[in-house]
Amino acid sequence: MPRKLAYDVLTLVEEGDMLARDAFAGLPSAQRMPPRDRGLAQELVQGVLRRGATLDVILALRLKRGIDQQDARVLRVLRIGAYQLLFLDRIPAAAAVSSAVDLIRTVRREGTAPLVNAVLRAVGGLVAGVQPDEGAPRRSIPRGDGTYVRLTEDAFADPAADLAGSLAARYSVPRFAVERFLAQHGADGARSILEASIARPPVSVRPRLGREADVAAAFTAAGVAFEPEGVCLLVRGVGDVRKLPLWDAGAFVIQDATAADAALAFAPADGLHVLDVCAAPGGKTLALSEAVGPTGSVVAVDIPGTRLLQLMETLALRGMGNVEVYGADATDAAALPRGPNPESADAFDAVLVDAPCSNTGVLAKRVEVRGRLTDGSALASLAGVQERLLEAAATRVKPGGRLAWSTCSIDDQENGTRVRAFLAAHPEFALVSERLTLPVPGRRDGGYVAVMRRSVLATGDVRPGT
Ligand SMILES: C[S@@+](CC[C@H](N)C(=O)[O-])C[C@H]1O[C@@H](n2cnc3c(N)ncnc32)[C@H](O)[C@@H]1O
Repeated sequence: MPRKLAYDVLTLVEEGDMLARDAFAGLPSAQRMPPRDRGLAQELVQGVLRRGATLDVILALRLKRGIDQQDARVLRVLRIGAYQLLFLDRIPAAAAVSSAVDLIRTVRREGTAPLVNAVLRAVGGLVAGVQPDEGAPRRSIPRGDGTYVRLTEDAFADPAADLAGSLAARYSVPRFAVERFLAQHGADGARSILEASIARPPVSVRPRLGREADVAAAFTAAGVAFEPEGVCLLVRGVGDVRKLPLWDAGAFVIQDATAADAALAFAPADGLHVLDVCAAPGGKTLALSEAVGPTGSVVAVDIPGTRLLQLMETLALRGMGNVEVYGADATDAAALPRGPNPESADAFDAVLVDAPCSNTGVLAKRVEVRGRLTDGSALASLAGVQERLLEAAATRVKPGGRLAWSTCSIDDQENGTRVRAFLAAHPEFALVSERLTLPVPGRRDGGYVAVMRRSVLATGDVRPGT
């Protein structure tokens, strides 16, 4: 029963603080379910987590008591039902309502079936249809595919009076984050970030270096629809990449084009020795390993734990012989591994820091992130770690070497502001390039990468501006 599975996963996410994918992996009922039903359960979980704030606005219109006064089990069932009514064309309204009534009986909330039935019928009555353009924003909901649900009555704030409030409710992104998008990227930029945040994430693969032509030929021969995006290929109409030709041969990896660009931003070339800080689970490590080839090397560092084990497994599977994995807290310069250049303080030719961040560039993929963006606490708690990671990593760059700082955030505090603060304190480094990418709906994630170069002079010889 896919709706019961969705309900169980949402319970684990909301009450057990689990990631949805871990909850799916841990529930035996998910493993036993036919793929089609499991797919619907996944769609419902992702949908409720991604569009929860919008669903609550709509439900509140037809509930007598406020959302925060509802029983958690009833509210979960109502959200699952309302998501189908608003966003899933393939499920008839009557089926969405009756399956919710069955579900509330299954989860044993005695006496609430009539409430669930009445509220969801009323929500169904609010839907006037689907339209190709926005229409009146107070009564339209973007669906993430360029179309909008048209409502029979106003549900949202007037954007002329409260733009942030209107966008926050209609795109299900906390007001705090929307206000930052508006302040930093303007109304159009904010709008496209929000559109990307509700779009279906693409299936993006990166052919391994030297295998680009093979992969394109194999996809074409198998009738797989694909198009290029940077160094990656967007594959259309394929649910499971493991079914694609050449997957078993390891000819491509799953990677977003913005992430691939970040790994390659300092143009890693044959023979370079690179330190990859914050490397797990290893998407960028693989790209670096291919780029530096057998005469170069990559030392990949992350905190000891599950993610690091994942990285080791990926490397073993792919047979990447030029990568060494190192478990350490990378905020501690003394704990970082030494590089292979004894003539320059055991430093590396290049160091990449792919920092932990607020993930504002990957809202479509990481549905749980929205919940952490309700105030500035996530940004504040990351700021110290980010500063220490960059400071420590800089100690491992050889004179003349490069230091790259990348995040999957589009918030300036973690990007340009962080890099400028570092450069102001370190005149021995100069900015070489800087790129902020806003997420493009259905094509690529948002992110940032800056490349800096260390002067060939010793630190004490450098004056600001050198
Ligand atoms: C954005 S993810 C890295 C993604 C990875 N580079 C890739 O391409 O697959 C950030 C990583 O930083 C790591 N991290 C966070 N704090 C750290 C610290 N103090 N020392 C080392 N790694 C840290 C996390 O464990 C996480 O794996």
